[in-house]
Amino acid sequence: MPDTIKLLKTRRSVKPREMSGPGPSPAELDTILTIGARVPDHGKLAPWRFIVFEGDGRLRAGEIIASVFARKNPQATEAELAVEKKRLADAPLVIGIVSIIKPHPKVPAFEQELSAGASAMNIVTAATALGYGAAWLTGWFSSDRDVLEGFGLKPNEKLVGLIHIGRPTKPNEDRPRPVLSEIVTRF
Ligand SMILES: Cc1cc2nc3c(=O)[nH]c(=O)nc-3n(C[C@H](O)[C@H](O)[C@H](O)COP(=O)(O)O)c2cc1C
Repeated sequence: MPDTIKLLKTRRSVKPREMSGPGPSPAELDTILTIGARVPDHGKLAPWRFIVFEGDGRLRAGEIIASVFARKNPQATEAELAVEKKRLADAPLVIGIVSIIKPHPKVPAFEQELSAGASAMNIVTAATALGYGAAWLTGWFSSDRDVLEGFGLKPNEKLVGLIHIGRPTKPNEDRPRPVLSEIVTRF
């Protein structure tokens, strides 16, 4: 079986808490981001951009998440706030994929969002191909405009997700997959 097909047939998400460092080198990160920007894109609008969270940046992002959580949940316990602070702290590298909707006469917002989803998936696949584990995660804060503003997103931008990337620390069982006969029809 060609290597690429084998990779695509066996790829699994890895939970961030089951990741360790070191994360991708600068050259590997460059490769991952380049592949993220190499996706089908109707109208060549590049309706996406990427935010790299590494080192301290992951913890500063967690502080923003926790402070918004505390403001909106005045009863929050210290334990709950600690969880929010650690949202980006497990994986050595987290990449945020931002969808930017650009007004266009022929390319609807939906198609631009799909292109951003393709970027996210390309980033997951590229990281996996380089030997890392990757997980595409969201969570309440990924659609909270106050958190997103803290991450530097403008009102016309959405967070497609955070791709957590690191070394897998344990083997990963596959999960059940859809049965093709239930999802494929012939016209
Ligand atoms: C847009 C999007 C957001 C997701 N957010 C979460 C999440 O917040 N938490 C979670 O456990 N899985 C989330 N997932 C699912 C995981 O990325 C992953 O697909 C799932 O754990 C199954 O693993 P697999 O990639 O090995 O099939 C999300 C997937 C997508 C496409």
